[in-house]
Amino acid sequence: MSFRNIRIVDRASALNEEPKNKNRAGRSPLRFSISLFAICACAALVLLSSCGSSKKTEQPDSSALYKKADAPVAQRVDDLLSRMTLEEKIGQMTQLEKNSVRSGDVRSFMLGSVLSGGGGSPKPNTVVAWCDMIDGFQKEALSTRLGIPVLYGTDSVHGHNNLRGATIFPHNIGLGAANDPALVEKIAAAAAVETAASGALWTFAPCVALARDPRWGRTYESFSQDSRIVASLGAAFVRGWVAADVGSAALPVATAKHYLGDGGTEWASSRSNNYKLDQGNTIGDDAYLRNELLPPYADALAAGARTVMTSFSSWNGLKMHGHKKLVTDILKGELGFSGFVVSDWAGIDQVHPDYYRAVVESVNAGIDMNMVPYDARTYIAAMKKAIEAKDIPLKRIDDAVRRILTVKFESGLFERPFADRTLAARVRAPEHLALAREAVAKSLVLLKNEAVAGTAALPIPADAVRIYVAGSGADDIGLQCGGWTIEWQGRTGDITEGTTLLEALRARYPETEIVYDRSGNFKDADRNALCIAVTSEPPYAEGVGDTANLLLPTSERLLVARVSEQFERVALVVYSGRPVVLGELESAASSIVAAWLPGTEGAGVVDVLSGDRSPTGTLPFDWPASVEQLPVGRFISGEQKPLWPVGFGLNW
Ligand code: BGC
Ligand code: BGC
Repeated sequence: MSFRNIRIVDRASALNEEPKNKNRAGRSPLRFSISLFAICACAALVLLSSCGSSKKTEQPDSSALYKKADAPVAQRVDDLLSRMTLEEKIGQMTQLEKNSVRSGDVRSFMLGSVLSGGGGSPKPNTVVAWCDMIDGFQKEALSTRLGIPVLYGTDSVHGHNNLRGATIFPHNIGLGAANDPALVEKIAAAAAVETAASGALWTFAPCVALARDPRWGRTYESFSQDSRIVASLGAAFVRGWVAADVGSAALPVATAKHYLGDGGTEWASSRSNNYKLDQGNTIGDDAYLRNELLPPYADALAAGARTVMTSFSSWNGLKMHGHKKLVTDILKGELGFSGFVVSDWAGIDQVHPDYYRAVVESVNAGIDMNMVPYDARTYIAAMKKAIEAKDIPLKRIDDAVRRILTVKFESGLFERPFADRTLAARVRAPEHLALAREAVAKSLVLLKNEAVAGTAALPIPADAVRIYVAGSGADDIGLQCGGWTIEWQGRTGDITEGTTLLEALRARYPETEIVYDRSGNFKDADRNALCIAVTSEPPYAEGVGDTANLLLPTSERLLVARVSEQFERVALVVYSGRPVVLGELESAASSIVAAWLPGTEGAGVVDVLSGDRSPTGTLPFDWPASVEQLPVGRFISGEQKPLWPVGFGLNW
């Protein structure tokens, strides 16, 4: 018995580890059986070891400085850090995906964070179930010795897109076309409220990627190829997110991602899966780095982004997760970033084939929190080993934990760890739907509107007796929303609540006969009537969406051919996450509207088609005539001429 006690003290001082039995009172009966010799041995050991380490196993009472809401954040952080064992510190640096968290894990690993990956929703996917899930993790976290709350993260990248029933806004590419910072700010605030309603405060957004090749499957997550637009809208998003009124919940936290160079990768440089661009290598010089890639980060940080996520991609051949110069020297040093850096999904695993070295190199490069999708145990073991072997200095660990705790204290999470359940009423609130609808209308870019026999297809004639509508995208919420909606890759069909273009058209023109056929086979079509053909890319996310040819699916192209034979005037609405190669479609349709991935509020598309609103969107990307012209840099240098240039957009 006595030996066991000595061993505990010894272990605690060597590893600063928390003994299994956390309750001092619960251990007290054992004391009666401790021999005098053991007491002396213990006392000697306590004297020999630092006083701090024995303090580290105690449960602090409510007078502890870090528990005082009115004490300055820096002092609270110092106080809490001084009480932490090594295991507690490593726990803070660990973020586990919720599907891998078993009951008791938050408590036993002392996790710093839990996340929902793409589609990481509870069953059922309701606000109440979300709150129960996250509050449940929180209760476990608060029951640990030091009671450090978890910060729950989710990808609210176009609304709270993991939650069924949330307001889904246009993906960033559409917001880039609208190019309205005040609008983006309001959208972010609305998204923060809906996210907070389900108990999460931390979004992995905005994505401030500078997409330079639309063949990239994440192009729609990028506001624009123009760094100034990316910087201004990214900062607007952060401002809106962090200032959102989330009732009694703690303050929302935003992430600038993916640091750095995502979107600029070279074709076929990716080594991940069968991706071509995603997670590949970006080649650039110092001018490109400083003039184009860093400003969106600098502006997002100035606007209040307190976390930065590193990119899967490499910068000039070196994986960003292991890039000390860019992560530590430039981001934390030059840009003065004092929040914390979170890895991407198992992103550190790509730094080196040997997992131990991958952990060592990425943490030393400056990654503060590791997003561990599946296996926290292996990461924690590697961390312990690395610290014991002094491959990672304790100083680095303290720096990482200090940053994480700072963000938690700043957000007020210690005082307000739980969801504000009254916010549930704000999910899909009428004002959020109106905002989304406005954003959709503003994001539409009119690319072509050619008169046929003196009349253009758009706007829809006020006296239209009959309108023909073709294409499955016209009546499919899943296609309207794209990837990162309910599921990681998105999905076709009724994946969530919303209004399709067809439904909105019927509501807008109650007196008009709306004839719908998804494949565009109309019997005895009236040649002079208007046909609206909606073509869509299938939903995709990340490298899964990398494409060599940038073409719409064959079925979609055949659809346009079919309707163009039947009608004089075809208004083509393109739902896509990027400019696609139109080829023959360009001449087949008399009007073309780029509608991007508008989200759940299809009425915004009809607001423009009907002429109720003017088209005001402009292209956030050069629109290529063919893939041979890519990447976008060749347009920027003047070597190639796009079909339509960035900034282009017609009006009536
Ligand atoms: C993506 C990130 C995302 C993370 C969590 C990663 O695969 O690259 O953008 O935030 O997963 O879902
Ligand atoms: C997750 C995403 C993540 C992706 C990375 C998916 O299973 O749901 O969040 O970004 O894996 O490969």
